[in-house]
This record gives sequence, structure tokens and C-alpha cells, in this order.
Amino acid sequence: MKNTSEIKKSIDKNLLKLALSTKGFMPEDEGLALYKYFKLSATSKSCCGMEIGAYCGRSTLFLGAAAKESGATLFSLDHHRGSEENQIGWEHHDRELFDPITGKLESLNKWRESITKADLDQSVVGLVGYSEVVAKFWQTSLDFLFIDGGHSRPSAFKDYRNWAKHVKKGGILAIHDVFENPEDGGRPPYEIFLRAKESKAFVEIDSMGSLRFLSRIAQGI
Ligand SMILES: C[S@@+](CC[C@H](N)C(=O)[O-])C[C@H]1O[C@@H](n2cnc3c(N)ncnc32)[C@H](O)[C@@H]1O
Repeated sequence: MKNTSEIKKSIDKNLLKLALSTKGFMPEDEGLALYKYFKLSATSKSCCGMEIGAYCGRSTLFLGAAAKESGATLFSLDHHRGSEENQIGWEHHDRELFDPITGKLESLNKWRESITKADLDQSVVGLVGYSEVVAKFWQTSLDFLFIDGGHSRPSAFKDYRNWAKHVKKGGILAIHDVFENPEDGGRPPYEIFLRAKESKAFVEIDSMGSLRFLSRIAQGI
């Protein structure tokens, strides 16, 4: 991957500042890599990207910056109730996001606030719902797909099966939290990454931290 400081020169400075002040799980170097690859894949105004797993919008802002610059559109999907590890008693629970009325986590308000503050309302479309439900009706080919939703085995494989098939030839698939060494993190994102490579439909093109970038070279998943 090209030097992070090179990529940093081209992203809108205000947007970068907002992204870095947004709650979430996307380190700066990885966010800049997302920005770079969505921008590379968004070659026309009809280009379409999909983010699975938005939380409060940290990764959405990096991708949204690329969408805005290219005139492309980013769809950002999340049920906004958090993954298992975000619930009470788990490692990544954030009390500020707990909604006492529903007794559940609530990240939609924060996500919307992030998008509006970053002036991305015309470039980013929020889809609120379960990934597997939205996928039943989704038919548009994707230039870019970012998978960072549920990290359990069933969730990760569902996201891969339901969404990777929509990536068009030459399009990019990005997977987050890919840890080869089990001591560094959970296995399912790594397993879907391997599955993508084994399919021979995707080839790995780059990586940054726990992010892996693959390009579609043939049909299949
Ligand atoms: C790891 S977080 C995403 C982090 C985000 N990309 C960032 O940069 O901070 C995973 C997100 O996936 C969402 N999620 C988990 N399972 C989902 C499902 N089946 N459908 C939709 N969203 C889901 C959770 O609500 C959570 O916000």
C-alpha cells in the first residue's frame, strides 16, 4: 500500500478530523486505505459502494469522503443495535449508546449526526435493518463492498454469501478484522477472506492492518 501520509494529502482535512473524532473501530491508516480503494473503484457518478456494519459512522466517513469526491453513492447498512460484543457486559459496550427505553444499544442517532456534520447526506444513504433481510431484495451491482458487520461465524459467512456476489468484475471487496493469528482476534473474518481467495473469483490486491482488499477477477463466490 502506498504510504499513508501520501493518501492523507488528498482527503478533505475537515472530513478526516471528523472521522477521527467519531466513535468506532477504524484506525486512521485503515480508514485512509478504505478511502483510497473506494475512490479507485468509483470511476463514475453511477458507481455504488456498500458498507455492512456502520456503527457510529467512523468508517462511513472515510468511505463517504471518497464517494463525495467521486460523485458516487455509498450505501451504509446497519441495524444499529450493535453486535454481540457491544452489548451490556461485553468488552466493547459503550454506556453512552445504551438506550434505556428499548434496553438495547442504539447507534443510529450518532451515525446520522456524523453524516450530517460531515456534509455527506447527498453521498451516503443509510439502510437501517438486518443485513440478511436487506440482502433478500438487493439487486444492484457493487463497485466496492466493505464487510464489517457481525463477526460471529454465521454472520460473517452470511454477509459474504449474500453480498460478495454483487461485486462486479474489477470491483473491490474489503474485509475488516482479518487476523491470521487467532491470538490477535476472532477467526470468522479471516475465514471469509480465505473463502474469497479459494473461490478463485477474487484475488488479494492489498492490505492495511487487519483490512484486506480483494478484486473480482471471475464470476462466483
Ligand atoms: C464492528 S461494528 C462496525 C464498526 C464500523 N465499521 C466502524 O468503523 O466503527 C459492527 C456493526 O455491525 C452491525 N451488525 C451486526 N450484525 C448485523 C446484521 N446482521 N445486520 C446489520 N448490522 C449488523 C452492528 O450493529 C455494529 O454496528
